[in-house]
Amino acid sequence: MASLKNLTAWKALEDHYRAIANLHMRDLFAEDSGRFDGFSLSLEDMLLDFSKNRITPETLNLLCSLARQAEVEGWRDKMFSGERINTTENRAVLHTALRNRSDGPVMVDGVDVMPEVNAALDQMCRFSDKVRDGNWIGADGRPITDVVNIGIGGSDLGPAMVTEALTPFHQSGVGVHFVSNIDGAHMAQTLAGLTPATSLFIVASKTFTTQETLINATTARKWLTDALGENAVARHFVAVSANADAVTGFGIDPDNMFLIWDWVGGRYSLWSTIGLPIAIAVGMDNFEALLEGAHAMDRHFQTAPLEENMPVILALLGIWYADFFDAQSYAVLPYDQNLKGLPAYLQQADMESSGKHVTRDGEPVDYATGPVVFGEPGTNGQHAFYQLLHQGTPLVPADFIGFAESHYPDGDHHAILLSNFFAQTEALMQGRTAADARALLKKAGLGRKEIDKRLPHVVFGGNRPTNSILLRRLDPRSLGMLVALYEHKIFVQGVIWEINSFDQWGVELGKQLAAAILPALKNGKETGDHDSSTDGLIAHYKRLMAGTS
Ligand code: F6P
Repeated sequence: MASLKNLTAWKALEDHYRAIANLHMRDLFAEDSGRFDGFSLSLEDMLLDFSKNRITPETLNLLCSLARQAEVEGWRDKMFSGERINTTENRAVLHTALRNRSDGPVMVDGVDVMPEVNAALDQMCRFSDKVRDGNWIGADGRPITDVVNIGIGGSDLGPAMVTEALTPFHQSGVGVHFVSNIDGAHMAQTLAGLTPATSLFIVASKTFTTQETLINATTARKWLTDALGENAVARHFVAVSANADAVTGFGIDPDNMFLIWDWVGGRYSLWSTIGLPIAIAVGMDNFEALLEGAHAMDRHFQTAPLEENMPVILALLGIWYADFFDAQSYAVLPYDQNLKGLPAYLQQADMESSGKHVTRDGEPVDYATGPVVFGEPGTNGQHAFYQLLHQGTPLVPADFIGFAESHYPDGDHHAILLSNFFAQTEALMQGRTAADARALLKKAGLGRKEIDKRLPHVVFGGNRPTNSILLRRLDPRSLGMLVALYEHKIFVQGVIWEINSFDQWGVELGKQLAAAILPALKNGKETGDHDSSTDGLIAHYKRLMAGTS
């Protein structure tokens, strides 16, 4: 059995929870005018305001003791120094080396990986410049107008999210597209707008065994060769992978392969050559600014005391709600339309990392680990699911993220957007008391009977926790800081929960069963090999396909 619950800090937190669970943040703010100053941190332009949480100074002390007793600092140092902390895959975890902007070496098994990392960055720089400048010529001599990244999971979500987030920094007329889903609609609809002679495909797969990516790449290859012939492949396909043999087997010239390493986890790989579509879209200077932002957060994570360490604080608050308040989800709410990919990106980063039920030693955990992550940009989410955040029965902690300056400053859009951000966190914290609600209804001209009837519906309990992350503007550096902040938050939580945050065995079973079901769908043979529901679905599919249902 896991040992977390035996830590003295955990036991103290259980007692402390009982003592403060019913405190209202409204009162905590009223009692302490310095609460914002006491519970906020900044790094460069980034402010983390965590004062609207159900905590007191004692909570923070106890949570930091928990982090110390769980040896967060020791594990952090193991990660940065290249120890093989991903034990089920026997791998180091070194996405931080990809954005190591210092001159210092990073060692894996006694070998400095930085020369290879820097060589890969140089290769990315040369290639992305060529494509953007029109010097990468297609098979019929025309320059490339559209790049299609074919990948899924970490080989899609990170680069897609960043490319979209940095739209104001796009430097050229080259369109960058992302195809991930095995659903043929995704590839067909993307290709429909493209011309073979001016299209370039990046097949992005660390393993180069992922079914979706290989099938999508095969479809794209056929589309290209039908129009331009087999010889065109070399000019129109490049690959990002750790599997050189499979890349060559697919027919891609090894000279057009960009290397990643087994010590880069898929969901932590946007900083690597997996970021090639980002570099094509925004240029290498901006890609490097993204790396520098992440490096600044790495330095902060490595050096700031736990009490002042942003990723540590975010992680501890997440644990406070997941394990003591029984919160089973949390919301990520970017108040920036260009960051609309962030919740989906964090779903993989967080849920694939923390969706674990056994400890690093394989013992069952007897506490909650990773919550469900969801979100939408504000203000859209306000008109969709915020009702539940305000008045629903579950407690849903939320991170609000916004930027002071807009890239689109016309009119009042941005001030209105931010007024909504701030107002939502205030409303979630304050709520609306029965007395205030009664006064409001009276002012609206309602009689006593009608007021009594409506009152329970317009009272807001409040006391709903939020973190506010406010930056100057969404740019490569601030985005790098933001993403690294969440990566390290996830890491700290994994250490405290005693889980391996870097494997993902949970996605394997479905893949295997799909491979077993596929022949039954393709060859018309009834199976009877599965449970009655799965067999029933297969049979009904076949009847529909045969027109007999
Ligand atoms: O979904 C499982 C997974 O292994 C992810 O962790 C990974 O990001 C994704 O598949 C894609 O893997 P690859 O880059 O090897 O195609």
